[in-house]
Formats: sequence, C-alpha cells, structure tokens
Amino acid sequence: MPLRIAFLASEIAPWSKTGGLADVAGALTRQLALAGHAVHVFTPLYSSIDRRAAAGAMRASPVTLHFLDDAALYARAGLYTQDADEHRRFIALTRFAFDTCRRIGFAPQILHCNDWHTAFGPLLLRAQFAQDPLFAATRSVLTIHNIGYQGVFDARHAPDLGLADLRWLHQDDLRAGVVNPLKHGILHADAITTVSPTYAREIRTAEYGMGLEEALRSRGDALTGILNGVDYDEWDPRHDRHLPHHYDAGTPATKAALKQAFLARMGLAARPGVPLLGVVSRLAYQKGFDLLFDTLPPLLAQGRVQLAALGSGEARYEEFFASLARDYPQAATFRCGYDEAHAHWIEAAADFFLMPSRYEPCGLNQMYSLRYGTVPIVRRTGGLADSVEPFDAATGRGTGIVFNDFDAPAMAWALSQALVLYADPAAHARAVTNGMAQDFSWEQRAAQYVALYEALPGR
Ligand code: ADP
Ligand code: GLC
Repeated sequence: MPLRIAFLASEIAPWSKTGGLADVAGALTRQLALAGHAVHVFTPLYSSIDRRAAAGAMRASPVTLHFLDDAALYARAGLYTQDADEHRRFIALTRFAFDTCRRIGFAPQILHCNDWHTAFGPLLLRAQFAQDPLFAATRSVLTIHNIGYQGVFDARHAPDLGLADLRWLHQDDLRAGVVNPLKHGILHADAITTVSPTYAREIRTAEYGMGLEEALRSRGDALTGILNGVDYDEWDPRHDRHLPHHYDAGTPATKAALKQAFLARMGLAARPGVPLLGVVSRLAYQKGFDLLFDTLPPLLAQGRVQLAALGSGEARYEEFFASLARDYPQAATFRCGYDEAHAHWIEAAADFFLMPSRYEPCGLNQMYSLRYGTVPIVRRTGGLADSVEPFDAATGRGTGIVFNDFDAPAMAWALSQALVLYADPAAHARAVTNGMAQDFSWEQRAAQYVALYEALPGR
C-alpha cells in the first residue's frame, strides 16, 4: 500500500547542503517516491537556492517539494547561523509543514523529522494537531543524524514554539533555563531512528549520548539504526559527471591516470609507489583530525605519503592542513572551502581515504570511497564500523583499514598498515576489488524505512 509521507529536512541535495543530511534527505525521499509512495518534502528556500530552478524542480521531481520562502529567516550568510533567532528559523519550517498539509488537504500517515531542526514535529503533532482529522492517523518518526547538535536555546524563547500550554515542554529543562529541541523529538516521536546500528547502540551510552542517553534509554526499543545508503547516480566512477574518464574494478589503469592528472593539476610531484591520502570533510571536532597532528607530518616529510585535503570548519584544523600544504608543497594540497567537483576528484584520485572520527553516526565518504577503489582508513565507530570491514591479507577478505582507539598510536598503526598494504600490489588490488563490489544502494535502505513506517501502530 502506498503511504503518504511528510518529510521535513533543514537541508536537501541538490538544493542545499552542508553535509550528509542533505545527501540522505535527497536520496531517501526520491527512493521512497520511486517506490510509489506519496512524498511531500518541506525545506527552507535559502537565499543560496536558485529560485527559478527550484520552481522548475517542483514540477519535475517525483517528490513534491515545498520550499518555505521567507527572506527574513533564510537570507543569511549560511544555512545555519549563531543568530539569536536560530530556533525560530526551524520552528517556522516545522509549522510550515503542518500548515501546508492543511492548505493542500494532504493527510500524512507518516511525519518524518530529521535532527534538532525539525524535532519539534512529534510534539507539535501531539500537542496541537492530533485533534485535526487530517492528522488523526499521522505517526511520527525522528531520525537522528548527529546527536552532537541539539539546538538548545534559552527558555525565555519557549513561547516562540506557539504552544497554548507550555507544560508540554520538559519541565526540569525549563527550570534550568533551557529548551532542547532534539530531546523533545526523542520523547515524543512514535519511532526514533539513527543512521547506523552501531550508532544506535552507542548513543544509549554516556560516552556517545551527549547527555541524551537517558532520554533514549527511556524510549526502550523505539530506537533503531538503519544504515544510510549511497546515491550511486551521483557517486560512481563508472559515470561520475565530474570526471573526464570513467572506470570500474576492471580498469584500474584509468584510476591511476586520473591520479596522475590530479597530482599534476594540484602541483604535486608524481611519485610512483607513494600513496595519495584523501580527506573531504567538515573540519569539526567530531571528525577527529587531531589524530593526524603528530602522525601525518613525519610521513609527509619522509616522502612516504601524499595528501589531498578539502574542507572547512574550525580554525585549528584549517590551519593544520594549510600548514601541511605550505611545508610540503610537493606532497600536500589543501583546498579550504566547499567544492563538489573537487570532492569527486579526491574520491577518484586518492589511494586511501582518511576518516579518523571521534564519533560518526554513519558517514558517507567511506562508502563513496569503497566504490571509487579508494581504501578507507577509519576508526571503528558508528557507521564506519558498520560499513568497512578490516582487510585481512591472509584470507583476502575485507575492504579497509580499521583502528579501535582514539589515540595517536592507533592512528600511526593504521597509517603504517596502509603503507604495508600499498607496498603489496596484489593485496592492495584485492582490497580495492572487494570494496568496489560493495553495494550500499538506497533501494534496500528505503525498504527498511517503509517496513518501520508500516509497523507503527494505529497508522
Ligand atoms: P557529515 O554529514 O557529518 O558532514 P557525511 O560523511 O555523512 O558527514 O557526509 C558529508 C558529505 O558532505 C559528503 O557528501 C561529502 O562529500 C560532503 N562534503 C563535506 N565537506 C565537503 C567540502 N568541503 N566540499 C564538498 N563536499 C563536502
Ligand atoms: C550527520 C553525520 C554523518 C551522517 C549524516 C547523514 O551529519 O555526522 O555521520 O552520515 O548525518 O545521516
């Protein structure tokens, strides 16, 4: 039976993106629509979005897109801000979804909210909209893409939520002077998901729960993990529109040629036998690049590795990568900023891809890397643990290099393993081939969401 789904997301590819949420929102909703479900998406019309293209897309897409057009809220320097009205920008989006459903007479069976921005959806449904026959059978789902961002704001602003009765809000928090949007989503959603099974276990613990572990544990088995998928229309070296030549597992010479072209273009030396390490990332604390501070410079200095990094974020990481590019101009390049085409080039050109995350709800680039024949080096956490299997030269099984502890010795060990693997062409080729054969396509993932939607009682 086709379902009616309202999907709320603060960013969605290709319209707006700072990270993986956009990829997931874009690909999952598309896949659900292609599977025959009626999917209405609610998202801001940021000033960076081309209005004419957006208007055209509303007609062309299998998904029905509803952009909230409000310049006072969304004409800002970036998608997210530190401004005093940040909470209001996304409460407005959440209310827009309910209001639009009413206006067009769309009765969603599923209200699917994502991260703190739209996490008030389940509460608003219960407190205000469930009385409306349009929403009488609506069940809510909250997907946590990152528990590190909770959207906490000052309790003075609680009335901005527009609730008639503030007793719906978490009273201890209110007394402590704060409102935590993500916590309310956790407490009121009919089902909670996160983006990998391992992260679903991790966030129930104090180490990873960021203060919400209690709230999650109180929901028992309402929380499940569904691993994200990959949009192979976008991320596949067999037809990547950003690359001049295409390759697959049978044509490794093309990947090698792309690497050479990339090194030349970036002004790096051609060094046969030396692996190129790739980084494409938000440069945030979460991503764990601190582990490279002491471990990577010696390898660059000794000419044992090269590095291509892309990203922006916290100053100390930007400065670190910039200093590598300055100190080792033949070996390291850093592009500070956001650059879609460059991200694809790094996936294709690099031999290894670094993701030493402190925590990683899912992570997409390790899965992209597998398809691009770029062996991921990851810490065993969250979705990294669920998508990369340690390569074992003895059995020829596995797809990447996986380390356990978040410390420099473990990082150094992982880098040395990469050098050992690269020095053994047969083993390296085996790891690459295994990785390229992995399939994380959205078909199966979307089916898991549908199964979850269908299992919600009373829908
Ligand atoms: P997160 O959502 O935590 O940032 P993910 O691995 O889930 O991490 O997704 C990151 C997405 O954002 C990937 O599609 C990646 O290619 C992209 N990305 C991150 N930083 C940049 C950048 N500087 N330029 C281009 N794309 C980027
Ligand atoms: C978040 C997480 C990332 C995940 C993405 C999409 O931003 O940091 O691990 O892949 O959301 O779910």
